[in-house]
Parts: sequence; C-alpha cells; structure tokens
Amino acid sequence: MANVTVIGAQWGDEGKGKIIDWLCNRADMVVRFQGGNNAGHTIVVGNQTYKLSLLPSGVVQGKRSIIGNGVVVDPWSLLEEIARVGQAGLRITPDILVLAENAVLVLPLHRELDAMREEAASQKLGTTKRGIGPAYEDKVGRRALRAIDLTDLGALPAKLERLLAHHNVLRRGFGQKEVNAGALLKSLSEIAPKIVPFIGSSWRELHAARTAGKRVLFEGAQAVLLDIDHGTYPFVTSSNTVAGQAAAGAGIGPREIGTVLGIVKSYTTRVGEGPFPTELKDAIGEKLGERGREFGTVTGRKRRCGWFDTVLVRQTVITGGVDGIALTKLDVLDGFDEIKVCTGYNLDGKMLDHLPAGANAQARLTPVYETLEGWKESTHGARSWAELPANAIKYVRRVEELVRAPVALLSTSPDRDDTIMVRDPFI
Ligand code: GDP
Ligand code: IMO
Ligand code: MG
Repeated sequence: MANVTVIGAQWGDEGKGKIIDWLCNRADMVVRFQGGNNAGHTIVVGNQTYKLSLLPSGVVQGKRSIIGNGVVVDPWSLLEEIARVGQAGLRITPDILVLAENAVLVLPLHRELDAMREEAASQKLGTTKRGIGPAYEDKVGRRALRAIDLTDLGALPAKLERLLAHHNVLRRGFGQKEVNAGALLKSLSEIAPKIVPFIGSSWRELHAARTAGKRVLFEGAQAVLLDIDHGTYPFVTSSNTVAGQAAAGAGIGPREIGTVLGIVKSYTTRVGEGPFPTELKDAIGEKLGERGREFGTVTGRKRRCGWFDTVLVRQTVITGGVDGIALTKLDVLDGFDEIKVCTGYNLDGKMLDHLPAGANAQARLTPVYETLEGWKESTHGARSWAELPANAIKYVRRVEELVRAPVALLSTSPDRDDTIMVRDPFI
C-alpha cells in the first residue's frame, strides 16, 4: 500500500499539521522523523484546537504514532505535552505512542546553550531556543544521551560525565555555572519511569506495519528552506527536512517513503532571521499577517510575510523530492485587487532562476514579479473546486505551472474539513 511523506516546502508553518490530520484517517500510523519541539503543528477540529510539538499529528485521531530516531526529544517537554493534550481529551498511552529507543534526548543544558549563543551573537539566527541545534551537535559528536539510556540508570553517570566534560568547557567560556551532574542525574531518574513505557523500536514497528500491509504517513517538521544542507544556511534548523530524511529518521528504506507531498502556503512566511526575497515590510505584508494570523505556534513571534515565491518552491520541489503539493491558506488571499508571484531574481543586473547558495547573495536578491488578478469572493471554507472563483482557480493553475508540481490538495480554512482534494496523494 502506498505511504505518504509530508514535508514543508517553504520556511515552515505551511499547515503540515492540518494536512497530516486530514490525510490520517486513511492511514494506520503516523511517524515523525526529524526536528523536535521547535515544531508547532496546529490541528483544528470544530471548536477544538490542538497545538502539537513533539507528538505526531496522528494522536488527534488516535492513530499509532511514532517519534522516530531522527527526532531530538526533550523528555520533560514531551511529558508536558502529553498532559496538555490530555486536558483536551486525548489520552496518550503506550498503545498509541512509541518513542524510538535510539532518539537523542534534549536536556536543559542544550536549551541553555542555545539561548546563550543567541544572546551572545551579533548576527542572531532567531532560533526557537529549544536546544535543538546543540542536541543535534551532541548526536553527531557521539556524546548524546538517547531514550534507551533511561532504561539503564546505572550506566548514566559515565555517559553524563562524557557529555558534561564537553559542555562545561563551553559553559565556562560563556562565564556560566557548570552543570551539576548530580542534579541532572536526579531529574533524569525522576522522569525515566514516565518515559520508559513509551520506548520502543521505530524500525521494527515500521517493518511490522509493512509486512501487515499497513499504510504509513511520515510527518516532516520545519521545511526544505530550513534544511541544514538545502536551506538558507546558516539561517536554518539543524536537521535534514527533505523527504529523504523520512527513511533515515524512521528506520526504513528510501523506496518505502511513498508519495511526497510538499505543503505550500499560498504566500510566504518566515519566522526568525535570514534572507527572504519577497518579504513585504508594508501594508500588504501586514494585511497578509493579520488575515493569516501569522504568529509563531511555538514562540508567539510575529511571522514575516510576503508574496508567493515560485523560484523557491520550484527549487524545494526538486531538492525536497516533492511529487505533488498541498496549497494552503488560499482564503487569506481573498479580497486582494491583485496578487503577485515571484518568477525570478535580479542579482546585480543578472537574472537568476534559482536561489544562489551564498547568504550574502541571497540577501541582495530583487524579486521579479508576475501580477495576477485577485478575486473579491470568499474562498474561506470552500470544500469543492466548483466553489472557487475563476481567478482563484487561475491562481492555483499558474502556481502549479510555475513550480512544476501538480496540486493534490487545497486548504481554505484551519478546519480539518475545509479541504479540497484535487488528486489523491495515496495513489
Ligand atoms: P505547520 O507547522 O506547518 O503545521 O503549520 P502551523 O500550524 O504552525 O501554522 C499554520 C497555521 O495556519 C495554523 O494556525 C493553522 O490552523 C492555519 N491554517 C492551516 N491551513 C489553513 C488554511 O487553509 N486557511 C487558513 N486561514 N488557515 C490555515
Ligand atoms: P514547523 O514544523 C517555522 C526556525 C526558527 C529559526 C530556525 C532555527 O512548525 O513548521 P531552531 O530552533 O530549529 O534551531 O531554529 O528555524 N524554525 C521554524 N520556523 N516553523 C518551524 O517548525 C520551525 N522550526 C524552526 O524560527 O529561524
Ligand atoms: Mg508550525
């Protein structure tokens, strides 16, 4: 059976949570494969809004949900999230949630280092300060703690010693107190009994699912332009966010990831620092932000807004491995007289049809726009192609042409049901 992998194809917050939730009634399992609690995925069902950070979006529909080995997990934050969604009526038990034994743990010292660096830097990255970058550094540096380590507390002191030898040098450099190993060991020992029941094997779960002919949905966090390799480096997150990561971050072969659906907002937003060629620092940008309610799900920061950039999405379709796109927030464009889409860049008098790799060049791009006619009718809540005004259809078709990927789904409000299927991504 066909699996589906969902990734963000801009700078995040495209509506991945909504689309995964919508798709997941036809899947058996949902797997997160990278990122951590820097993600904020919103799911709206009637009057209820769920904001998920570490929990895969499958939990809303009670689907088996796996936090894969590619995710970095703050165990305290995971427990808080489980308690928070519990208050909203979602019971997260080990029958529903599996945490990969080989997933790396995010510790308070990672959050502190993330914050110290941001505060000390003259050129800030604008991270979420959740410790994501420092945790991935320790993973690659082979000194991180992993979920499985919580099952063997006797072996923790030696592992912590190795980790703290590295961190205390850094902390001294920042003029900060060293980490108290005893206190950290104590708090890890306190949470271990609450986390251990969830610990399992992502690759074995997936292998069993495959053998049983089950359908799996892979849930990406962040987006291709925040990818550590393919994004706007250094203004990126610290993981690979492209579809290929679904295989490595979950423990399956690359042919198992199925159809790749890239989630794309009908305009562009970015939260945090870094280049953004079509950013609008004017009344139109404000209007997009207001109509789209563009405030960060995790940090509450105001998101920067601008017109759709087809150069970027054409590129992320290629680097991300996108087969089809889900175009979200079409309703936010209702009422504009005209709508612009960027079709190329001017860099020092030369035309470019792609994003140059250097951060300095990226910051100096002037977008070249094509102007399309807007529409006055409301698309908010539209559930069929027939309900869309002619100019909205023209917009969708033009985007499809310019980014060179077919539109599979359209979204017209935060609500689960306000979704139009143009072609079935599971086929
Ligand atoms: P994610 O990180 O990609 O899951 O996206 P976020 O949840 O951080 O941000 C997307 C925001 O847009 C959320 O508040 C969603 O409820 C909202 N949203 C999703 N799709 C639509 C849509 O089609 N129209 C409108 N108006 N809002 C949407
Ligand atoms: P979802 O999954 C939007 C951004 C941060 C910052 C950069 C690095 O909800 O789309 P990090 O804390 O990861 O080291 O920050 O990446 N960022 C996101 N922006 N959506 C996200 O996730 C993001 N996760 C990280 O704002 O610019
Ligand atoms: Mg988000």
